[in-house]
Amino acid sequence: MKLVVVSNRVARANTNEPMTGGLAAALLPVVENSGAIWVGSSGRVRDGFQKEPFAEIEALGAGALATLDLPAAHYGGYYEGFANSALWPVLHSRSDLIRVAEGDYPSYREVNAFMARALLRFNKQDAAFWVQDYHFLALGAELRELGVTSPVGFFLHTPWPAHGVIEGVPQHRELVEAMLAYDLIGFQTEGDRDNFLGYVRANLELSVDDDVVVSQYGRTRARVFPIGIDAEKFAKAAAKAVTHPDVSRLRRSLNGERLAIGVDRLDYSKGLVNRIRAFDRMWSTNPHLARTVSLLQIATPSRGGIEAYGALQNEVARLVGDVNGRHGEADWTPIRYLNKGYGQAVLAGLYRTAQVGVVTPLHDGMNLVAKEYVAAQNPADPGVLVLSKFAGAAHELDAALIVNPHDIDGMARTVATALSMPLAERRMRYEAMMHRLRRHSIQRWFADFQEALGESQAEKVETSPLATEPPTLWPIRSVHAAARFH
Ligand code: UDP
Ligand code: G6P
Repeated sequence: MKLVVVSNRVARANTNEPMTGGLAAALLPVVENSGAIWVGSSGRVRDGFQKEPFAEIEALGAGALATLDLPAAHYGGYYEGFANSALWPVLHSRSDLIRVAEGDYPSYREVNAFMARALLRFNKQDAAFWVQDYHFLALGAELRELGVTSPVGFFLHTPWPAHGVIEGVPQHRELVEAMLAYDLIGFQTEGDRDNFLGYVRANLELSVDDDVVVSQYGRTRARVFPIGIDAEKFAKAAAKAVTHPDVSRLRRSLNGERLAIGVDRLDYSKGLVNRIRAFDRMWSTNPHLARTVSLLQIATPSRGGIEAYGALQNEVARLVGDVNGRHGEADWTPIRYLNKGYGQAVLAGLYRTAQVGVVTPLHDGMNLVAKEYVAAQNPADPGVLVLSKFAGAAHELDAALIVNPHDIDGMARTVATALSMPLAERRMRYEAMMHRLRRHSIQRWFADFQEALGESQAEKVETSPLATEPPTLWPIRSVHAAARFH
């Protein structure tokens, strides 16, 4: 099997650059070791028709990374427009932030069709396509339109919202119909999968048998694959990172003070405003925690060209200034606020330095930072994770202190509880979460999805009335032995 992974954002190996989001961070190590080809945007655009759409095809571990310059005329409507001003807000249940501009949806479809045409280059016998995330909901349908019969799977890294919410996007029906061209659709949580199937039943009036939908495209299976991390690797990196100059300088600067850490893209889904208000409340109601506890908030700029993101950046900066102005002292800054990113090797050491990890999104697909914070802890003296009930990770990390990110007082109390938690309880919670992280690793996620994609394809062939050839038996996990594409 020759696996072709497709996403908008890709990552390069061995750069030690900050990762832009969980998709790229999670996929890089597993794709690199798999021999797969990873296809995505180069981050640049080009005008007009190009005979050769690939800007670059370079080696990536045992496989390759192939990047495309996307069409200039459609890029804005696709990325900042439909993907991030219509789909992203609706998928995170922020219908109030949906901005629908005429031309955005056609551009989104154009880019999906463009990607499909480019992928034909890799549509060899034995190929399987695995499409990632909301940028490419319609890519499977475009591939089928071009006559591709290879297995095509899809994984959604974001949530799928509750009943009715998706209707905030005018083209919801045709998009979900297009998604049924995928053989397998993966979700982060059961809730996301059930919401999707609920839509299919209620709005498309298709029957759902167990987790299988039958549509004009045949069978589509909808299953849950919570994405993981390589916990052991992260733990090792964290232990090593404490000697990194950035990390040792932070440690020295603390002078006995304790630290809470938040690491997020500057995105309205992350609940940054409520989190800062909760720390404000905590310092007001627990004056003994002033001077002795500070918050390090890394807020990496994201999607800066979109109005809602610019507004959030201003709001958070203003709030941080206000809180620091009221609670701070000449020699103490309550919130250390940074608008930049760190490579994961340093990040791991920053997580390990903090006694509390605060991950309090209003709605999040998984949130890998939550998992990374746990994996980075010193097993002999671990910190405490304070985790929103609306992060996908809360389904797995139930040994964290779970909070409602809308309840400012509750979050303030919980952070104070975390700071005073006895060592025995911290260790018990840490062990429980590490057990889960080790069992549900990113390697297992990658292998499980491929195995399920192979099974879905085999079932499809067996049950198709048009099947004239015996089903190709899927070489499960053979991706590890896959040959290069070029
Ligand atoms: N990250 C990073 N450097 C930073 C901030 C974040 O490498 O300065 C990585 C982080 O380690 C994690 C990913 O970016 O792997 C963020 O993923 P998450 O699922 O938490 O959130 P997303 O940004 O995908 O919404
Ligand atoms: C989330 C999305 C990813 C995206 C990442 C960063 O994790 O699920 O698909 O790559 O955010 O966003 P960006 O727009 O910078 O790629």
